[in-house]
Amino acid sequence: MNVLITGGAGYIGSHTCVELLNAGHAAIVVDNLANSSAAALKRVERIAGKEVAFYEGDVRDEALLDRVFDERDIDCAIHFAGLKCVPESVSKPMEYYDNNINSTLTLCRVMARRGVKRLVFSSSATVYSAQNAMPLSENSVTGDCTNPYGWTKYISERLLTDIAAADGEWSIALLRYFNPIGAHESGLIGEDPRGIPNNLMPYISQTAVGRRDELTVYGSDYDTKDGTGVRDYIHVMDLAKGHVAAIGYLLEHRGAAAFNLGTGKGVSVLEMVEAFQRANEVAVPFRFGPRRPGDVATCYADASRSEKLLHWRAEKTLEDMCRDSWHWQRLNPQGYGE
Ligand code: NAD
Ligand code: WQD
Repeated sequence: MNVLITGGAGYIGSHTCVELLNAGHAAIVVDNLANSSAAALKRVERIAGKEVAFYEGDVRDEALLDRVFDERDIDCAIHFAGLKCVPESVSKPMEYYDNNINSTLTLCRVMARRGVKRLVFSSSATVYSAQNAMPLSENSVTGDCTNPYGWTKYISERLLTDIAAADGEWSIALLRYFNPIGAHESGLIGEDPRGIPNNLMPYISQTAVGRRDELTVYGSDYDTKDGTGVRDYIHVMDLAKGHVAAIGYLLEHRGAAAFNLGTGKGVSVLEMVEAFQRANEVAVPFRFGPRRPGDVATCYADASRSEKLLHWRAEKTLEDMCRDSWHWQRLNPQGYGE
């Protein structure tokens, strides 16, 4: 199939391009490079030994999308494009709502016009209310988001669910990612955050490589196994395979449906630091700091629905995630800026 991949130059998008090409699909990427580098796509081509069609531009540019649909016989789309930095969304809500909602709307409008009605959407575990018991299933309560970024995912899910309800020809998979980490095993592509990383794994790997002095562990008094926050970390290549599985599902099913993409296992911050040091035989200096506002103690998935309906399951281990994150970081200490 010819798959339109918005945000395909980004972290998850680039890894998904590799899996799509390996599965025999064609990859057509639209990305404005707001948070990525075109070099990532060159490396995707190197890994897969196949070409990626790349259109540099904004998904909210309806004329650009029309041109892509004119020039390529698109069968379905994966919509990764969006802004994803939680604290930035608090300080720049208008940018986040504009980018994340209007990109989804524009893409759907063009797809509907072209009669292309299969869509995979990048959602997030952040759509779940913090009041839920663990593990989170797709039936857990959503909403009560704690930041504008989370609301943009919640609203996009609502929008897509309403579109599928109004027109029974749509097939939409809402993929709720837990905490993606790791990199392609080649070390050629990986996560390359701009500025100081907000997320745990890039902070750990940048500390290990000497770009940061030490990791601050946000909170040591949570009601968890060792007092530090617990999350469901998933290898980005497993996540990428989940998208290929979702496309298979869309061929057989109509309507909108949500799927958790996680491992179902909770790992604490201290366990992650230890696993990283052990897997890579490298030191990660850290100190304890106060809790980070907005953080929950524990968050992990019940991924059984994805296993049953998408026939997909995360296979890589925590050691794989730590090893591959480090491999990428070590080979590319300054990310794609090298
Ligand atoms: P990323 O920033 O690496 O990738 C997003 C890509 O979209 C970037 O290449 C960026 O340049 C592009 N982009 C942004 N706005 C655009 C626009 N208007 N037009 C064209 N391109 C645009 O982020 P990622 O980690 O790969 O995340 C991909 C998607 O998954 C995002 O929607 C994100 O919200 C979602 N998600 C990410 C995580 C995570 O922890 N990484 C977790 C849950 C959900
Ligand atoms: C993980 C754990 C931190 C950094 C975020 C978004 C979420 C989703 C994924 C997109 C927590 C601790 C972190 C550090 C630390 N993104 N930590 N020191 O917060 O679970 O989720 O990314 O949808 O929406 O909120 O991930 O990697 O930031 O934090 O101690 O320097 O690591 O407190 O317990 P989080 P994270």
